[in-house]
Amino acid sequence: MWLFHSQCTSKARLVGKTVIITGANTGIGKETARDFYRRGARVILACRDLQKANDALEDLKNNPPSRADRKQFQGAPGELVIYRLDLSSLKSVKECARNLITKESAIHLLINNAGVMMCPQETTEDGFELQLQTNYIGHFLLTLLLLPKIQSSEPICRIVNVSSAIYKHGIIHDDLNLKESYTPLKAYIQSKLANILFTKELARRLKEANINGINVYSLHPGVIPTELGRHFNRTIFPGVNTVIRTVLRPFLKNPEQGAQTTIYCSVDEKAADETGLYYKECNVATLHWRAQDNQIAKNLWDQTCRLLHLKPDEDLATFLKTVSNC
Ligand SMILES: NC(=O)c1ccc[n+]([C@@H]2O[C@H](COP(=O)([O-])OP(=O)(O)OC[C@H]3O[C@@H](n4cnc5c(N)ncnc54)[C@H](OP(=O)(O)O)[C@@H]3O)[C@@H](O)[C@H]2O)c1
Repeated sequence: MWLFHSQCTSKARLVGKTVIITGANTGIGKETARDFYRRGARVILACRDLQKANDALEDLKNNPPSRADRKQFQGAPGELVIYRLDLSSLKSVKECARNLITKESAIHLLINNAGVMMCPQETTEDGFELQLQTNYIGHFLLTLLLLPKIQSSEPICRIVNVSSAIYKHGIIHDDLNLKESYTPLKAYIQSKLANILFTKELARRLKEANINGINVYSLHPGVIPTELGRHFNRTIFPGVNTVIRTVLRPFLKNPEQGAQTTIYCSVDEKAADETGLYYKECNVATLHWRAQDNQIAKNLWDQTCRLLHLKPDEDLATFLKTVSNC
């Protein structure tokens, strides 16, 4: 277990706040949900498998975080609610967003956490490469569909995109779907770089639209042996997970430790005045040049809009109207 991991020390309570976490039934997302629920939030578990989501809900209700004596966990817990969301289906993303907009009175925090890593090449029902759609395009669309609702829940709202430090080894390819050049790793890295560029570009557009009550964050959670490695035995070699757990053992975090930077970006008072930045170990981290280029971020936004048949209007209000009609 990684002994030198950072801890989110904020004592903030989240009573009266509604939080959406994608992929909250296991791993980092589930531990993030455990923390927020005990801080008093209404926590929405946005998951593709309702049985797994229900099992997670029972576990979250019955088991507090390991340091339950902390001040932020004193007081009544919040609520746990499940919504169905399959990020690899645009239809499901739109349906989920519609349900959330209709049924929820506010959305204060959106945690784009769900992800898949290094799966064999697969095309979704929408014609996109699976990792690209699950990790990036699905979250892009979900965020934009929910943005008006988030805006109406101001003054303090945050959008947190869970990326990975591996982003620095990749680029954004002309063919985002990597039709002719797919490798499981290349596709994962590109999707995680896209999470960071999306964060920067969304923050820029919000600033330009004078929307100051919504901050956007991206982060690396650390290295955590979760179910994320479920495809490794097929796409790397059989037994690789055992090797990783053995060789990387001193550097691995448990999922609760892995959730700390997400929690920091979501609740910490110091981060409240920051937007568009990238975080590691509960701190702002410097981005590699690959993720610093504003033009690449803008191009990716436009390219994504083209894939989704959306007109990438520079005026955010006009653009969001187009998105809501898609
Ligand atoms: N673990 C690490 O070392 C590490 C390092 C860097 C970054 N990250 C990032 O951290 C995030 C969380 O990863 P994790 O380690 O907690 O992985 P995990 O344990 O595999 O959890 C991933 C979650 O995403 C959900 N998911 C997958 N495909 C989905 C889809 N199409 N629609 C909706 N939900 C879907 C999974 O649901 P099912 O259970 O139904 O599959 C699961 O709830 C990911 O974005 C990952 O890239 C992780």
